[in-house]
Order: sequence, then C-alpha cells, then structure tokens
Amino acid sequence: MLLSKANMAATKINNLTVIGAGLMGSGISQVSANANINVTIVDSNQKALEKSQKGIESSLKRVAKKKFANDEAAQSNLVKSVLDRIRVSTNVGDSVENADLVIEAIVENIEIKQKLFAEVEDATKKSTIIATNTSSLRLQDIGKNLKDKTRFGGLHFFNPVPMMKLLEVVKHPETSDATFKTLMAYGKAVGKTTVACKDTPGFIVNRLLVPYSFEAFGLFERGDASMEDIDIAMKLGTGYPMGPFELADYVGLDTMKFIMDGWKQQYPNDPSFKESKLLNKLVKEGKFGRKSGEGFFKY
Ligand code: NAI
Repeated sequence: MLLSKANMAATKINNLTVIGAGLMGSGISQVSANANINVTIVDSNQKALEKSQKGIESSLKRVAKKKFANDEAAQSNLVKSVLDRIRVSTNVGDSVENADLVIEAIVENIEIKQKLFAEVEDATKKSTIIATNTSSLRLQDIGKNLKDKTRFGGLHFFNPVPMMKLLEVVKHPETSDATFKTLMAYGKAVGKTTVACKDTPGFIVNRLLVPYSFEAFGLFERGDASMEDIDIAMKLGTGYPMGPFELADYVGLDTMKFIMDGWKQQYPNDPSFKESKLLNKLVKEGKFGRKSGEGFFKY
C-alpha cells in the first residue's frame, strides 16, 4: 500500500501563513481566504506584498462578477469578506506563531528554503504543520534540518491556483498520518481535488510532463516535425489544451531548464532526464517564453 490509512482525524485549519507573495503564494492565499481561513501572507519584499494584494483583489473581482452577475452588492461583499481575512507582513517569526499550517512558496532555491524552514520550525507551535509548494526539489532535501519531520509535507498547487483544480499532496518518508490527513482535508476545504504522491522528483504531473516536453523538443531538433505541427498533434491527438511548445513558453523556458538541470544533476543515470541544446540556446539568449516576449514563439 502506498500510504497508510491509520484511523486518525484531520485537524481543521483556521489560521494559515503563506510565505512568499509571488504568483503561487498569492493564489494559495486567495483560495484559502475564500474558504473562510484566516491568512497571513509573508514576503521579504514589501513591494511584492502590495502587488499580491492588488492581484488578489482583481482576481476576486473577476470571480465575484462571474458568481453574482447582476448583483453588485453581493460582488463587493464577497471581495471585501475575503480580503478582510488576509493580512500581510514582512516578519516570518511573528506571522507563524499562531498558524495551524504554514505553506512555503518562496523562490525555488534549496539553501534559501532550508534556512527559512529552520526559522519557521523554531517560531511555530509543536502542532503546526509545515508544507512546501516546491515543484522540483526533494522534500527530503528541503526539510533536511527540521528536528520534527512528522509535521512536514508537500502541497503542490498549480498555476493559476484559483483556476486549477488539482493539488498534489506529497508525503515525506517521515510525514505522520495525522499530518497527511490534515493536508488532504485542507486541500479539499479550499476546493481542490487532491492526489497523493511520495517524495519522488516532480511528483506526478511534472515527472511526466517535463520529460515529455523534452521529448517534443528533441523531435523538433532532429527535424522530424515542426513546432507548430507537434503542438497541433498533441492538442488534437490527445485532447491536451496546449501543445508542448506553447506550454513551455507559458511555464517559462528558464523554469523548464532549471527543473531538468536539477534532476539531471541529481539522477545522472536516469534516461528520462536529458538535455535540449535548443532550449539551452534560447535561455542563454534571454528568450524565456511569454514573460520575456519570445521563447519558442514570439508574443
Ligand atoms: P515568485 O518568484 O512569483 O514569488 C516568490 C516570492 O518569494 C517573491 O515575492 C519573493 O520576494 C519571495 N521570497 C523569496 N525569498 C524569500 C524569503 N526568504 N522569505 C520571504 N519571501 C521570500 O515564485 P512562484 O512562481 O510563486 O513560485 C514559488 C514556489 O512555488 C517555488 O518553489 C516554485 O517552484 C513553486 N511553484 C511554482 C509554480 C509556477 O507555475 N510558478 C507552480 C507550482 C509550484
């Protein structure tokens, strides 16, 4: 059996602290506050916090407009009630003191994450669950210095968080059953469909998606098919909403390279982790995809 199903109740999350007010942290905060959870967003950068608040507000306005099409009072009520449950801070220690759950969504850098987790563990109650939203790093590395790993696990959300239904809940070898149950229950409470996975590189989605994308880059680099035709083929042939080149431009070519380089370095003998000369060249030229105006395609 993959995961033990000990008969233990999940703890309800009332107070959440999200560390990292970027793309992911903002989305996680929004869906959590929308599920009646009190949220504190922490970021070392005050500007990021301001940007996050503005982003959450405009995203909520869109959600409210859709939900209450002809009722402006209901729309502003919804926006206000969710925003009222979110506060922001630049101080990690103060912000995690009363948290039932802390979710880390900072930069994908192992040393910075390890340092933050040590700080978080020292400042939290013994019962606080600590989770990471990492896409590509091993929980075993991120949590290496935690004294109590039973209350540590992974919550891998997808971008854009308010739209994407999936949440991968990741079990570190030492994550307790009670922690795991609480993480699954939290995921359901914020409206996600949860799937369980062990601490394996890329979990489920990225472990399949990233090597598949590199296969597509190789197909093009060998001259077997054009990028446009590969994208069309995968959309019409499999029902995927985006082809691999379109998707890589959306995710960011620098991110794709960063993930694959990390895995290749850590698992040099795994044949599904390979290189793309074309991707390396584009990243070197600053062509990161949609965010830089050009990647495989021009925007
Ligand atoms: P981002 O770059 O948009 O935001 C990161 C934020 O963390 C920034 O506002 C930065 O100021 C802050 N930060 C950095 N170091 C900090 C520290 N020590 N303490 C407090 N704040 C700090 O990043 P994004 O895209 O939101 O990603 C965050 C995490 O989520 C990463 O681990 C990433 O791998 C993961 N992730 C990203 C996805 C994506 O599609 N972008 C999807 C799923 C997971």
